[in-house]
Amino acid sequence: MDNHGIDKEFISAEEIASTVARLGKEINNHYSSKQDLDLLVIGLLRGSFVFMADLIRHIELPLTVDFMTVSSYGDATTSTANVKVVMDLDEPVEGKDVLMVEDIIDTGNTFNKVIGLIRYRKPRSLKICTFLSKPSRRQVEVPIDFCGMEIPDEFVCGYGLDYAQKYRNLPYIGILKKKD
Ligand code: IMP
Ligand code: MG
Repeated sequence: MDNHGIDKEFISAEEIASTVARLGKEINNHYSSKQDLDLLVIGLLRGSFVFMADLIRHIELPLTVDFMTVSSYGDATTSTANVKVVMDLDEPVEGKDVLMVEDIIDTGNTFNKVIGLIRYRKPRSLKICTFLSKPSRRQVEVPIDFCGMEIPDEFVCGYGLDYAQKYRNLPYIGILKKKD
């Protein structure tokens, strides 16, 4: 595939696959002993759709899926802004065992607000799974239960992650070339 604009392959497709399999095992272990499990896996669009599609195929438990789209307003680079629900869930959350799935947690601002919205709807339990995390960028604490990989402060794309809506289809994760 043409990798124009991508400086280097940062996380290979093989590394992604083994990380997702490991997360699936952790999730299976966590939920398998739970009585009356009613697992609802919620993905934040658009970034999480590739990861979530892979992840749920490693979860060996009955589950339902739903998606939500939110957008942050204000200063796009710091995302401290209000989070607006652009497309809400179809499924009720009350009483469910909710697993939130995100592509990457950066400052934590977006996800922190989404967690608040979900908690307000009274799930029975709430766990958070992210494929990537940039701990050095965090502005608000996000209680991550299942984390694929911690990465340094680099802008990455591929495997669902975009730059200006492009590159989501890359089967690996790359670092974007810096413009000089
Ligand atoms: P936060 O509110 O700063 O945690 O923003 C998280 C959101 O910013 C993610 O869901 C991504 O959509 C986007 N984002 C943050 N870092 C990256 C990156 O390195 N590549 C692509 N998108 C990113
Ligand atoms: Mg996102």
